[in-house]
Amino acid sequence: QRPLCRLLSCPGTVAAALGREEQSSGSSETGSEDRTPKKRFSEVQKERREQAQRTVLIHCPNKISEKKFLKYLSQHGSINNHFFYESFGLYAVVEFSQKESVASLQNVTRTPSLGTEAAIPFRSRYFNLKLKTPLNQTSEQSSMRCRNQSSPSSKKLFELLCCAESVDDQLNTLLREFQLTEENTRLRYLTCSLIEDVAAAYFPDCTVRPFGSSVNSFGKLGCDLDMFLDLDEIEKFSTHKASGNFLMEFQVKNVPSERIATQKILSVVGECLDHFGPGCVGVQKILNARCPLVRFSHQASGFQCDLTTNNRIALKSSELLYMYGALDSRVRALVFSIRCWARAHSLTSSIPGAWITNFSLTVMVIFFLQRRSPPILPTLDYLKTLADAEDKCIIEGHNCTFVRDFNRIKPSGNAETLELLLKEFFEYFGNFAFNKNSINIRQGREQNKPESSPLHIQNPFETSLNISKNVSQSQLQKFVDLARESAWILHQEDKDRLSPSNNQPWGLAALLLPSVANSMSLAKKKKKPASERIKNLLESIKSESTENSTATNG
Ligand code: CTP
Ligand code: MG
Repeated sequence: QRPLCRLLSCPGTVAAALGREEQSSGSSETGSEDRTPKKRFSEVQKERREQAQRTVLIHCPNKISEKKFLKYLSQHGSINNHFFYESFGLYAVVEFSQKESVASLQNVTRTPSLGTEAAIPFRSRYFNLKLKTPLNQTSEQSSMRCRNQSSPSSKKLFELLCCAESVDDQLNTLLREFQLTEENTRLRYLTCSLIEDVAAAYFPDCTVRPFGSSVNSFGKLGCDLDMFLDLDEIEKFSTHKASGNFLMEFQVKNVPSERIATQKILSVVGECLDHFGPGCVGVQKILNARCPLVRFSHQASGFQCDLTTNNRIALKSSELLYMYGALDSRVRALVFSIRCWARAHSLTSSIPGAWITNFSLTVMVIFFLQRRSPPILPTLDYLKTLADAEDKCIIEGHNCTFVRDFNRIKPSGNAETLELLLKEFFEYFGNFAFNKNSINIRQGREQNKPESSPLHIQNPFETSLNISKNVSQSQLQKFVDLARESAWILHQEDKDRLSPSNNQPWGLAALLLPSVANSMSLAKKKKKPASERIKNLLESIKSESTENSTATNG
C-alpha cells in the first residue's frame, strides 16, 4: 500500500472528484465497471447499429423542461433511453423503442425558413427544437444532468492517481476515467448512422460502420471516429437470386482500378456531406492517400471523423484488438496507460507524421503480453487454429480467420501484477533490437526485419505491410529513451519504497509528468536523483495556473 499524496487534495471517490455520477448502468455491451467487453464483436456491432437507427439527435434550447420534452416526444412512441450533453449548446440523444417513431417525428418536422439565407431541405434524424414561448424560469426548468463527453483534466487525473492505493489501482483508475462511456459509444454509433443517411442519398442500402478505437475497446474519450462506407452489403442482397440459366447484372460504369472506384465514391460522398450533411463541417477529401478518405468534423457530436470505403480488413483488425482486449482484464489497463504515457510525452500526436501511432502501441503491448512466461495473450496463429467453419474469413485474398468465441480460449495462468507488467514493458522495449527485429503478433515472436524501416510491426492480416512504416529513427529513439527513463523511475521507486518521504507523484503519475521527457537530457547531465527531479517538476506544475494545459488529456 502506498501513502496518500499529501501535496494534492484527495477526493472522496473517483466519481465525486469529477463531478460525475456513476456511469450509466444497463450498458448493452458490458456489465462491469471497467467496461471490458463481454459479448462477441459482431453481436455488439449489430445491436448498436440497430439501436442507433431508432435514435435521434436534437439540438435543444439551453433552458428546457426535461419532463415536458420527453412527454412531447413520447407522442411518437415510447422512449427507451435518453441523455443530454453539452457541446457548444445543449443536445439530447433520444432512443425510441421503435424505428417508426422516428418517421412519425420527421413527419411533424418542418424545414426552417431562414430569412436571407436558404435551406437545402434534407430530412435527417438530426433536429433543432425551438420553443414557441420561452420557459417560465424556475417552475418548469428542471435541472437536467449532462453527460460528460470529455476526459478528465490532467490536474484531476494527477489527483486521482496520487490518491490511488497501488500502481495497479492507478492503471485501473486511468482506464476507468479515459475509456469511452456508454453515452459516448452511443453517440459514435449514432453519428455513423446519421452519416449513413447522407451517403444513402447516392448509395441506398449502404452501411456506414465505425472501426478503429471507437469499437476496438481501446478508445479514449476524445479519440477520432473512424468509419467506413460498406457497399458490399448491397451486393449481398442480390446474390443467389438468379434462377435457371439467367443471371442479371447491373449496367455500371467501369473505371481502371479499385482505387479509382474508391476515389470516385468518396469524392461524391464528400460532396454530399459538404453540401447537405447537417452538422458536417470542414470536409476535406484526401483521395491521394494510401487509403483514400474524407475527413470532416461532426459539429454536434464534436467528433473528428475519417470516412473510408473498401476497408474491411481494418474492421477485422478492430475485431481482433477487441478480442485481445476481452481476453484478460490487464490488457486494456496496460494499453490505456501506455497510450496516455505516449501522449503525455508527445510520442503520439493527432497530426499525421513520423510519430508512432496508438494502433502501433497497442500491437506492441499485445506482442509484449504474448512474450510473458507463461503468456498472457495467445498468438494470432493459435487463435486461427481454434477457429471453426463460421469464423473463416478471407478478405481480398488475405486470411483473416481467427476464433471469435471468447469461451473457447483458456484464460492465462499468468498472475503478474500490472505494476510489474508496466515496468517490464518499458524494460523490454527499452532494450528491444529494433534495428534487426520485427514485431509480429501472428507468431508471437520477433522476426528478422524484411525491410529497413526503423520500426517494423507486421500488419496482422496484410502480412507484407508494416503498420509503423511512417516512424522515423529519431521518433523511435525518443520512444526508446523514454521507455528506459520510465523503467528507471519505477525501479528507483521500488528502492525508495521503504523510505517515508513520499510526498511526490509516484508510480504512473510520475511517468505521466510531461516535463520528465523535456528535462531528461538535462537531468542526465546534472545527475540529480529521480525523486528530486520529480519534486521540482511537481512544483513547476503546481505553479501553472491553467488546469487543462498539459497533454495528458489528449
Ligand atoms: N489501421 C491499419 N494500419 C495502419 C493504421 C491503421 O490497419 N497502418 C487500422 C487499424 O485497424 C486502426 C484503424 O485503422 O485501428 C484506425 O486507425 P487510427 O485511427 O490511426 O487508430 P485507432 O486504433 O483508431 O487509434 P486512435 O485512438 O489514435 O484513433
Ligand atoms: Mg482512430
